[in-house]
Amino acid sequence: MTTVTASAPGKFVVLGEHAVVYGKPAIALAMDMRFTMRASFGKEFKVNGAPANNYNLSPHMRYLSEKHGNDPLSIFIEERVPSGSGLGSSAALSAAYSAAVRALKKLPTDPESIAREAYEAEFLAQGRGSPMDTSASVNGGGIGLNIPYSNEDFLWRIEKNTHAWDISKVKVPKMTFVIGNTGIRAPTGPLVEKVRKYKDSNTFAASIVEEIGEVTLEGMDAMKRDDRVRLGSLMTADHKLLSILGVSCPQLNKLVECSLPYSYGAKLTGSGGGGCMIALTDHPEKVARAIKLHGGTPYIVNTDVEGVKVHVDNNGKK
Ligand code: PMV
Repeated sequence: MTTVTASAPGKFVVLGEHAVVYGKPAIALAMDMRFTMRASFGKEFKVNGAPANNYNLSPHMRYLSEKHGNDPLSIFIEERVPSGSGLGSSAALSAAYSAAVRALKKLPTDPESIAREAYEAEFLAQGRGSPMDTSASVNGGGIGLNIPYSNEDFLWRIEKNTHAWDISKVKVPKMTFVIGNTGIRAPTGPLVEKVRKYKDSNTFAASIVEEIGEVTLEGMDAMKRDDRVRLGSLMTADHKLLSILGVSCPQLNKLVECSLPYSYGAKLTGSGGGGCMIALTDHPEKVARAIKLHGGTPYIVNTDVEGVKVHVDNNGKK
């Protein structure tokens, strides 16, 4: 029997969220928290030994299964990325699931095919969103949207309705971040809408969006030079700009503040309003302790990780 093991990492946005919606640059980094699953063809559809149903089969999995002919699969989920907090959990699931089904069906498992398919699954399940999460998960390392890139760094262009995104690689050093999860669930849609209204009605807010774009480009240069002091200070500056746009919240501010004494810099990550913050640090244990003391859940993560991985085991047969 053929068994496929597939995994893909979660991600966080290091700079550029919200402004990216208006064509400004954004950079997302894959991290060493992964979604990992094993899959084989089965007699009936099962997830972790239980019959597949609406509770254990996500809409992303359902879309990808249907797309590939609905063969019954036996799936075991071995690890997950924490969900509902802007860490790209559904993108990692979609990328790994796409890779697994494609490998079982002997279809190409090149990163671009998986990135396109995983994005379709995300889009259909969520009805919105950019290909930032799925591309970061499939490629690993760092990826940029709307950033200047050389031919060798270009990954793929993804189009949806009237939007098009050129995704490119960003060289990322191995860095340690601490993620602080507020545990507050805040859907992305209303926050994006809030910023849109503010920006459209207020030239000051529009200038903040411009400024986030500039900070992000500078941050990309700092990352390329591995200048953590500069990158950290740009992250903290970005947090202040995002706060002015109204997408932070008291709990995020508290976790950012308590991390700063032990960090190069800290900021909210993703859509804000709750969800997670990130701190770039050489003292992850100290930051993690501070986050815990202030009511958050810390995760210590590293960057410069591999993207989607797939391994086919034919029971020893080739
Ligand atoms: O919360 P996340 O990780 O899905 O990030 C949302 C990022 C935004 O820029 C706020 C929205 C978007 O679609 O880019």
